[in-house]
Amino acid sequence: METQRDGFASSVGAFTATVASAVGLGNIWKFPYLAGVNGGAAFVLTYLLAVALVGLPILVAEHAIGRKMRQDAVASYARVVPKEGFWAVIGYAGIVAAFFIMAFYSDVAGWVFSYIPKSLIAAIRGTAPLESKAFISLSSGTWEPLLWQAGVVVFISIIVLAGVSKGIERATKLTMLILLGLLILCDIRALTLPGAFKGVQFLFEPDFSKLSGAVILSALGLAFFKLSLGMGTMTTYGSYMPHTVRLVPNASRVALADTLVSILAGLAIFPAVFAFGFEPASGPSLLFISIPAVFSKMPLGNYFTVLFFLLSALAATGAMISLIEVPVAWLSGKMNLKRPTAVLITATGILVLGLPATLSLGPWADVKLFNMGFFDLLDYIQQNLLLPLGGLAIALVAGWRLPKAEFLRELETAEPNKPWYIPVLYTFIKFIAPALIILVFLNGFGVFGK
Ligand code: PHE
Repeated sequence: METQRDGFASSVGAFTATVASAVGLGNIWKFPYLAGVNGGAAFVLTYLLAVALVGLPILVAEHAIGRKMRQDAVASYARVVPKEGFWAVIGYAGIVAAFFIMAFYSDVAGWVFSYIPKSLIAAIRGTAPLESKAFISLSSGTWEPLLWQAGVVVFISIIVLAGVSKGIERATKLTMLILLGLLILCDIRALTLPGAFKGVQFLFEPDFSKLSGAVILSALGLAFFKLSLGMGTMTTYGSYMPHTVRLVPNASRVALADTLVSILAGLAIFPAVFAFGFEPASGPSLLFISIPAVFSKMPLGNYFTVLFFLLSALAATGAMISLIEVPVAWLSGKMNLKRPTAVLITATGILVLGLPATLSLGPWADVKLFNMGFFDLLDYIQQNLLLPLGGLAIALVAGWRLPKAEFLRELETAEPNKPWYIPVLYTFIKFIAPALIILVFLNGFGVFGK
């Protein structure tokens, strides 16, 4: 039935496409600012544990289910366990999550895209680098952020319309390498600033009194967001994977590479934050005030700022493509719509939801729901509810509803002999990851007191 289905051409292609979905604004914008708001190293450590103990097992489970089913996320979960069609709810919740994420992600991506011409103009004119004032007026404006956001959504729609396969796959490979190089350059600059060490301490010396149930829940949620988990993206990508991919080593490398990028971003940002006396807990603006400052003290610094935001824009593009592919695949597959119609509906939905999200940081700042603006509310719901709950359901399907032999067969594909890590990982999928998700949830909502 699905024999003509498109897919990744090679194991390397499968790896890079997966990394391109994982690496995005989550690494360079969200991870540093959440670490800053939540007190630094204790959060970082919790995050690393969440990636290793929960994120990696769920990533493997999603890839395995996707490759076994070779369908879009809704169809995969609807059919993976015979007579238990209700698991399709994982796919539907994932579609909702994709819209929620895109609504605020496209706003932030708009800021990033706008920093390319802004810093270029500063570089050509030789004026001072962009300061926090510039960022505040952008992010709390009305028309400027909305127009950039709309531009980003249109841009991503055009790429998705044109088809994702070879071009994007190849392009992202190169841009990721350049991004890595630039991050290392930022790190060198930031770490050699006077007073930089305070930033390193902030990132690596944990003060456990900063941990609370809410902080742990947000670290877990970030692990899901970072690795694009719990919402069908990685199931869909698994469905494109050839049988030459060894799922466990591949997923481990993805998780490692993604985490490395986050740490490098943190190392570029926090030393500068302390050296220049910014506030580590300044929230979503952290990236936009510290990166121009890091480069400001370098020859051709403004040009490096341009390059940095250009590459961040590319990283965000890869992630956004994988985000909107989830509803688009479903609308064009199950709902039988033509691809352009599916893209149009998805893009419109994102803009409708994105408008109040963007305005909630400016003119609509006073409108609160559950004590949060709309931008924060959407982010909170996806990160602390939708993705972890989706991940829990996926672990339950993989560990408890699918026959063990059937599931392990997918993990053992392309492995020359039965490696030790497969039973270990299975134990994590079946027991440890779901137990931890449940505990972190209950704790995050104050069930154990405090
Ligand atoms: N992982 C992406 C990032 O860190 C965001 C994302 C989440 C992409 C969920 C797809 C699905 O930027």
